[in-house]
Parts: sequence; C-alpha cells; structure tokens
Amino acid sequence: MRDVTLLNLFEHHIAQKYLNRSGIAHALAVAYHAFHLAKEHHIDVDIAAKAGLLHDMGHYTWYKNGKWDYDLYKQNDIHAIKGAERAHKLLIRLGENPVKAKTIALAILFHTDSFLPSNDIVRTPLQQVVKWADEKDEEEGGLHHYRTIEVERAKQSLIRLDRLIDLELG
Ligand SMILES: [Fe+2]
Repeated sequence: MRDVTLLNLFEHHIAQKYLNRSGIAHALAVAYHAFHLAKEHHIDVDIAAKAGLLHDMGHYTWYKNGKWDYDLYKQNDIHAIKGAERAHKLLIRLGENPVKAKTIALAILFHTDSFLPSNDIVRTPLQQVVKWADEKDEEEGGLHHYRTIEVERAKQSLIRLDRLIDLELG
C-alpha cells in the first residue's frame, strides 16, 4: 500500500494552485507517459508517475504588460529548482516516505536542462524517464501549458492511473 496516491497529491490546495498555473492537462499527460515509460524500463512506476504529475509545479508567471514574456522566462526561469522544492514539501506534508520524496524531488530537478550551465549531466534511469515523458507532451511555443481539462475528468483520470500503479506494485 502506498502512503500517498496521485489523487491525494492532486487534491491538495498547494498542488491545485501550482498545477493550474502550468496546466493540469500537461501534468496528467506527463504522469501517464512517465508511468508507461517506467514500466517499460522496469523502474518504480509510482515514483515516476508522481514526478511526472508534479514536474512543472515550480513555474512562475513571467508576465510583462499583461502578456507572457518568453525572453524574461528564458533568462530567469528556475522552475525545475522551485518545482523540486515545492513537490518535496507537499509530499512530506502528505506523509510520503522520505526516501521516495527525495527521489521524486531530484527527478523534478533534472527534468530539464534549461537552467543548467551545461547539458552534460548524467541522469539516473528514473530522471531520464521523467525528462522523456515531459518531452513527449511538449508542443511548439509552450502550447502544452495551455491545454485544459475539467477538474472532475482530471480526478477520474488520476484514479485510473492510481489503480494501474497499484496493479503494477501488486
Ligand atoms: Fe513540462
């Protein structure tokens, strides 16, 4: 039995606040991709799906004169760092196993190269899976952050993924 489910995470007000900002539909899609990739590569599906769901919760809204400013974002973005920290805090608060919480936070930290001075870091299989999962759902011009889904549908979809994870873990 897992200490925390995807639905527990999603329903928490901290997750609601930050996942809405970067797009719930994208978060769900990446959680599903991460689950399937993790299964394929024989790594922990629960950790991968959680990292996928929470990977973008560090986004800040870089607006200038009411419009998203992509240059400002590119220059100043540290969403992987903030996301790792926010996700870790949320997981610990909900009672996640601390070893798992750290592993998930690190997968979020390394899900993108965008803030790193060079792109030569060596990722663990889990970290690689979360990065691939995100890239699978990426759309030109960041459009993946703007796809929408109704909250009720999102919950049903997470309940389904939680069931799939439980089946995998046996
Ligand atoms: Fe993403």
